[in-house]
This record gives sequence, structure tokens and C-alpha cells, in this order.
Amino acid sequence: MAGRSDAQRVTLHPMERTVLRSAAGRRRATFRELAEELGMKVDAVAKAAERLQMKGLARVEEVVVDRIASLSEEGMEYAARGLPERRLVEELRARGGSAELEELKGVIGARTVEIGIIWAKRNGWIEIARSDGRTLLKLVRYPDEPTEEEQVLRLLAEGPRRMGELGALVSACERLARRAGLVAIKEVREHVVTPTEEGMNLAVQVETLEEVSQLTPELIKTGRWRSVELSRYDVYAPVKPVFAAREHPLTSLIRKVREAFVELGFQEVKGPLVELAFWNFDALFQPQDHPAREMHDTFYLAWPDRGRVPEGMAERVRAAHENGGGTGSKGWRYRWSVEEASRLILRTHTTATTIRYLAEHREPPVKVFSVDRIFRNEKVNWKRLAEFHQIEGILMDRGVGLKHLMGVIKEFYARLGLREVRFRPSYFPYTEPSAEVDVYLKELGRWVELGGMGVFRPEVTRPLGVEHPVLAWGLGLERLAIIIYGVEDIRELYRNDLSWIRTVVPIDLR
Ligand code: PHE
Repeated sequence: MAGRSDAQRVTLHPMERTVLRSAAGRRRATFRELAEELGMKVDAVAKAAERLQMKGLARVEEVVVDRIASLSEEGMEYAARGLPERRLVEELRARGGSAELEELKGVIGARTVEIGIIWAKRNGWIEIARSDGRTLLKLVRYPDEPTEEEQVLRLLAEGPRRMGELGALVSACERLARRAGLVAIKEVREHVVTPTEEGMNLAVQVETLEEVSQLTPELIKTGRWRSVELSRYDVYAPVKPVFAAREHPLTSLIRKVREAFVELGFQEVKGPLVELAFWNFDALFQPQDHPAREMHDTFYLAWPDRGRVPEGMAERVRAAHENGGGTGSKGWRYRWSVEEASRLILRTHTTATTIRYLAEHREPPVKVFSVDRIFRNEKVNWKRLAEFHQIEGILMDRGVGLKHLMGVIKEFYARLGLREVRFRPSYFPYTEPSAEVDVYLKELGRWVELGGMGVFRPEVTRPLGVEHPVLAWGLGLERLAIIIYGVEDIRELYRNDLSWIRTVVPIDLR
């Protein structure tokens, strides 16, 4: 709309016309002056002025219209008791024109003397002489008239002043402002409207097309709508950002994970955070001397410290650990302790949750997942938390195998927008074969390890009475979140920094 060609007609809203006319009359006016003159609110003037600017009829600038000087606390004190240099020369005069430095300090204070000497010397009022280890101050000229600085102090002691009113004393005032901030100078800024040449011309024209911003019943009934112009919307006008309610970024990612698995026909399952070592480790064929069970990885409960291991199940798991229990395996060959299996811990992975579910659902097909919290006794730092989430799942059915597992995982990540997935052979005590899942992130230009997977060993499934192959996986959630949200420090996800939560946008993975 600004810089239109002559062919286009300029239209003015009544407010704009009023403001333009009045500004043109003064050539240049502040919002405040116009508001006063026109009996309008400053906001309304501002709006009209911005629109005039948009139409190329005026310029709006913020300018320093004045400066106001006022005394600081220290300035106030000097105004009352005199500047240090004044007090110094007064004291010297009272003592007949000279005095010893240390003695003066004792009378008017060391600080006053030190500051006073600097300025009194600069003004040519005193001289300093040294004789046998003593410092003597001598008065050379006593200033009878108050200095400019003193005049400023006296004026400002009555209250803040516009710099414009200080006349010849302005530079003295600025000197005081520089001198340890005795005077504070504040700039007064205001918005100023200056009509452009086009605006000036238009302001004197009587006939400009009337612009209205609201179509009223009156305009319609009288048919006057035909002769007016409706204000245009400026869809590019800056507005304040609005932060409407929004999900926490992590919650939002969890929701997407849920949606992906539900769409693939899985059901969500839940399990306890406080878990039996039995489900977390033993049922998963992890030997009882496995390093992951140690205190530095696992949180053990102090009270209550034991739970009840399901009996029949316990005996079959014992057999699997001790001699393979007829699964064709030789087992780990040690004495399995039900006492150890009954210890209560905070689950270290959600595989504890899916295995629990499997023990009660032995008939195919079983397709369940969980996105839930786990705990590991880790030192928290930028890349590690002690409490985090896993994306877990199992699929049990007749005749399923590794290729189906790879298919499910690929499909899952594809639904989150991550299309490059690779698998590396790996090891877990409870799966065979086992693999590590990596996802390629073009934003990072590298592969990121996101979890583990495999097919449960017979040593795991047989004791539960499960006859068919079970595909299982456990993937990191926070690892994925920091990539998707571009977070450098994993703790950021839990810091609840409102401005981050409000503004963070996931990388575009599509
Ligand atoms: N539980 C494993 C972990 O916490 C992941 C996993 C789950 C591996 C299921 C294989 C099968 O890292």
C-alpha cells in the first residue's frame, strides 16, 4: 500500500485524517502533543500514525526530545554539605591559608580530603608542598563566587530539571554526571510523526475519500457504504506472540509414540515402578551375579526390601538358571536363590513390565507396548539421567522372527519421520539373536544409537509356558527427544523452563 502509483486512490480513516492534518500543521509533532491537541488517547494517535506511515504519508520515529537531570544520593549530600574541594579550601582559609594533610583528614575526613585535593588542584586553588616527610596544603586562590558545578547542585537540589532549562550550565551538569555519578541524566524519548511530502499535500486537500474500519448497519441502510472505502487489513503487521496452552514437548513425543504403536495394532500396558528383582532380572535369564544387578546400577529398596515371588514360576525359572530346565540349554550352572529374586528394586528397564504381561498372556497373538519410566543409579550429567523413559514392546505370534522385528521397528520410526534405521548384532542375556538399533539423523549427519532388541531365548519363554517366538525391544525416549528438539543438555527436558517449553519446535523430520 505504501508507495502506491498515482492510479490508486489514497483513502484515509477519519482518525488518520485528523492526525495527518494536525501533524502537517506543526510539520512535526510528538504523539503526546497530538493526543493533547486532538483530545485523543496516545494509543489511538500511535495507531493512526503507524497506518499513515504504512501508506507512505508520514514517518514515525523515536527521538530523544529532552534530557532530565537529577541529583543522585551522593549528589544530594554534596548539595547539602558542599563539594569536597569547597570544604577543603574553606578549612584551609579558616586555618590561615595552610595546613598539614594528615591533620585535615582528621577534621573533615580522609575521603573528603582526597577527593577535594584532586579538584581543588585542578581548579588552581591550592598547592601541595612536601617538607621533611610532611605534606602541606597551601591555599593559593579562594573562590569567592560559587562555581558552575555548585550552581548546578543548588538548582538540582530543588528537584529534577530539564536540561533545556539549564542554559549555560549544561556542560557543568554533564561534568557532574561524569564525576562519580553525582547527577543522573535521563533521556526522554518520544515518538514523532513527520508527514511526508505526499502527506503534506494530502492534508491540505479537502476531498479525500473517507475510509471506515467498520461497516455499520447505518452505512448499509443509507447506502453510504458505496462512497466510503473500507480499511484494509495489514496481515503483515507485527503482533505480540500468543502462547496458548501447549503440551510439554516430552508429553507430545510420548503421545506420538503411543499413536504410532496403536496404529500398528499394539495395546499399551502398565507395570509397577517398584519391581521384584525376579521380573526385572531372573525371569529374563539374567544370572544373579550379573554386574547390572549391583548397587551402582540398580536402586534397591531399603523398606520394604522383599516381595513375594510367584511360586510355580520361581521353580521353573530356577531350573532354567541352574541347568536349562529342559530348554536344551545348560543354564548358568550356579545355585539360584529365591531370596535374591525376592528383592525389591526400582525397575531398571520396562522389559520387566512386558515380561510380566507375557507370563499372563501365553496365547498368540500378543502385541503390547509401554512408554514408561525407569531408574538407574547413574550420576546425572548433560547426557545422562537417573530417571528416564523407555519405549518397550513385545510381539508374540506363530512363526514370527527377526525380519518381522526389524520391520516393526523400521515402521515405528518411519511414523515419527525417521526413515533410516540400521541394526547391529549385539548381546542381551535374554534375547538371541540380539541387535542394537541405530537411527540416522541428517540434521546431525550421523547415526544415533537408540536401543536394543531381539527374540526372547527359550530360557525366558519356556518357564512362562510360552510356546511361540516373542520379539522384544526397548528404545530410549529422552535420547530421541533431545535430537528432535535440538537440546544439548538432557536435563533441559525436565528443567521446566517456561520460555523453552513455549517456544521449542521439533526439527522437521519429513
Ligand atoms: N532392556 C534392554 C535395555 O534396557 C533393551 C532390550 C529390550 C533389549 C528388549 C532386547 C529386548 O537396554
